[in-house]
Amino acid sequence: MKIGVDYYPEHWGEDYWKEDVAAMSRAGVQIVRIGEFAWGMMEPEEGKFDFQWLDKIVSMFTEAGIEIVLCTPTCTPPQWMFEKYPEIIQVGTDGKRVPIGIRGHRCMNSPLFRDKVKTMIQKLVHHFKDNENIAAWQIDNELEANFCCCPVCAEKFREYVKKKYKTIEKVNEAYGNDVWSGRYTSFSQINPPFGTHQTWLNPSYMLDFNRFASESTVEYLNFQAGLIREIVPQMKLTTNNWLPENIPDFYKLFENMDFVSYDNYPTTVIPEDPEELYSHAFHLDLMRGIKRKNFWIMEELSGSLGSWMPMTATPEPGMIKGYALQAAAHGADAVLHFRWRTAKSGAEMFWHGLIDQSNIPGRRFEEFCSLTGTLKENPVPEETEIHNQAAILYSTESEYAFKIQPQVEGMHYFTQLKAYHDAFTANGVGVDMIDANSDFSGYRIVVAPALFLADEELAGRAEEFVRKGGHFVLTNRSGVKDENNQCVCRALPGIFADLAGVYVTEYDPVGLKKQRIRIQKDSWKQGSILCVSAEDKDTAFARDELCCSLWCDILGIETADVLAVYGENFYENAPAVTRNHFGQGECYYVGTVLNRRGMISLIGEIVRVAGAEHIMGLPLGVEYTVRESEKERIHFLFNNTNRKKKMELRRVNAYGMGEPVKYELEPFEMQIERQML
Ligand code: GAL
Repeated sequence: MKIGVDYYPEHWGEDYWKEDVAAMSRAGVQIVRIGEFAWGMMEPEEGKFDFQWLDKIVSMFTEAGIEIVLCTPTCTPPQWMFEKYPEIIQVGTDGKRVPIGIRGHRCMNSPLFRDKVKTMIQKLVHHFKDNENIAAWQIDNELEANFCCCPVCAEKFREYVKKKYKTIEKVNEAYGNDVWSGRYTSFSQINPPFGTHQTWLNPSYMLDFNRFASESTVEYLNFQAGLIREIVPQMKLTTNNWLPENIPDFYKLFENMDFVSYDNYPTTVIPEDPEELYSHAFHLDLMRGIKRKNFWIMEELSGSLGSWMPMTATPEPGMIKGYALQAAAHGADAVLHFRWRTAKSGAEMFWHGLIDQSNIPGRRFEEFCSLTGTLKENPVPEETEIHNQAAILYSTESEYAFKIQPQVEGMHYFTQLKAYHDAFTANGVGVDMIDANSDFSGYRIVVAPALFLADEELAGRAEEFVRKGGHFVLTNRSGVKDENNQCVCRALPGIFADLAGVYVTEYDPVGLKKQRIRIQKDSWKQGSILCVSAEDKDTAFARDELCCSLWCDILGIETADVLAVYGENFYENAPAVTRNHFGQGECYYVGTVLNRRGMISLIGEIVRVAGAEHIMGLPLGVEYTVRESEKERIHFLFNNTNRKKKMELRRVNAYGMGEPVKYELEPFEMQIERQML
C-alpha cells in the first residue's frame, strides 16, 4: 500500500518545487497526482502545447523515486476555448449555458470538445509515453452524469430513445404518456428535462434521461481511455470517483478502468446523536464493491474543508492518520492526501491541505508523517484482499428512481443502505457493497434495501439464492416499480411476494415521526440485549427503545413467521418484520425503517441464524475488518470515535465462541494485528 499527495506545481512558482519534492521524500511520500486542472498551462494558445514545465517537475519526482499519477486535464478547458467555441459549454436545465470560470462545465458529448480532447490527450500521452515512473493515468476529474441540455445532447437523447424503443408508440407505452396529454407523435418532441419543476416530469421519461446521462459519461470516459491505450496499451487507468448529485452507473463507469479510485472526505465533526451514521466505511466498501477488488483513494482528507461553503472543524487529533488507515482496512492500496499545501488563490483556498500557505509544517503534517511511519513498520501488501460473508445490494436504477420520486420526508436511498451497513459493522461482520445486477451466490447473507425498481431476473436470482440456503433480506419499497419506472399492478412486494411470504395490505409513509415496535421472537429479544456492549451501557444509544419511522408496511401473512409487530397506531399488532422459510434458506421482510438500535439487533439476529462469523462486544463506533492473502491475515480494529474505548471481544464462528480478548483504543486509533498463515 502506498501513501501519497495531490500536488499542484502550476499553483506555485518553480522556486517551490525543489524543496517541496525534497520535503515529500523526507515525509515518506511514495506517489503524487498532478495535472488534472492544468489544460490552460499545457495549451496556453490554441494548438501551442507546452509541456516543458511539466517535464521539469516530472523529472524531479522521477529522480526522487516518487511515482506519478498523471491526469488528462479535460475537466477545465482553457478560457480561450470557451471564447472561441462557446458551444462546448454545458446548457443547464434552465436552458442557459452554465457560467464559465468554474470547472466540469464542458459538454462531454460535444463533437468539437471531443476533438480538442483528442488532440490534447494524444500530445500529452505521447510526450510522456516512455516515462516508467508514471504509475497510472487519471482521466478527467470527478465525473458526474451531467444533465446537459444543449442541442447536441438533446439530439443524442432523441437518438437514444429511438434506438431503445424503435417506434414512438413504444415510447408512449413505456412512459405511460396518456397521462396529462403526454403522448408524442414524433421523436422531435422529445427534449431534455428543462425547467425547475423536475419532480412534475414523467418519472419513466426521467429514468431514461438519467440512463442516457450516465451512458454519455461512460462513453466519454471510454473515449479518453481508448486514446490513451492507443499510445500506452499497458498503462493503468482510473478516474477519481465521488457521489455527485447525478451519479453515473459506477459498474459501467469502471468496467473498462483498471482500478477504482475515490475521493474520501469523512466528517471532521463527530455527531452527538447516535442515530447519525458518520462512518465512511460504507463509502469505502461501496468503492471496493464496484470491481470487487482493492481500490485507491485519490484524494483524502487533510484539513478543514471550506471554500464554496463555510469551513468545517479542523480534523481532530488522530483523524488524518486514522481515516487513512480505515481506508486501508477496507481495501485501499493507495491513499493520496488532498493536498500537499493549501492553495493561496482560487476558489479552494480554504479547503485545507497537509501544510498551510505559510509552508510551515504543523500538527496535521506531523500526523501524516506518523502515518507513513506506521505503514513502513507495518506494511499492508496489495495482495491482501477482503473476503466477506455478507453483502448489501446497490441498485443504480433504484437510486435514480428514488431521486426522481422521493418517497417520504427523511428517506433517502443511500441512507437505507448505510443503515444496514452500519448494523453489520456494529455486529463485527465485514460486508461488501455490490451491484444488484451481479452474482451474489457466494454469500451467506444478502441484504437488498429498498429495491424500488426490480425485474424478474433479479427476483429469480434472489429466489435461487435462498432456495440453496442463503439468507436474504428484503425491505419496504421493494418491487414497487417495473423497468420503465411505472408502478406494478399487484400487491407489494410484487415480484418478491412468494419469496417473502407476505403481502402489503396498506402502507403508511409516517416520515420522521417515531413509532413503537414490539419484537415477538425470543431469540431476537435476547440478541437485542447482547447488541449493547459493556462500553455503551450508559449511552443514549443503550437507553433508546426499539422503534421505527419513515415507512410502515402493514403486512398480511402468507407463509412467513412474524418477528416484530407495530406497537401503536391503527395498525398496532400488525406484522412489521417477518421471516419466511423458503427452500433451504430464509427470506426476511422488513416492512419499516428501524432505529439504529433496532437495526443492529435485527442484523444480529440474522447473523446468528445464518451462522455467519462475527465479533461480539464491539462498542459503537469501533470497526473490525480483515485483509488476507495466502500468506497472512491482517486484522484491523479501528476506534472511529473521539473517545477512548475499552472492550472485551469474542470471535464467534463455526467452531463456537472464542476466548475474550481485551483491547483499549485511543480516539481514532487503529490497531493492526498480523497473523501468519
Ligand atoms: C474534490 C475535487 C478536488 C477538490 C476537492 C476539494 O471534489 O476532485 O479537485 O476540489 O474536492 O474541494
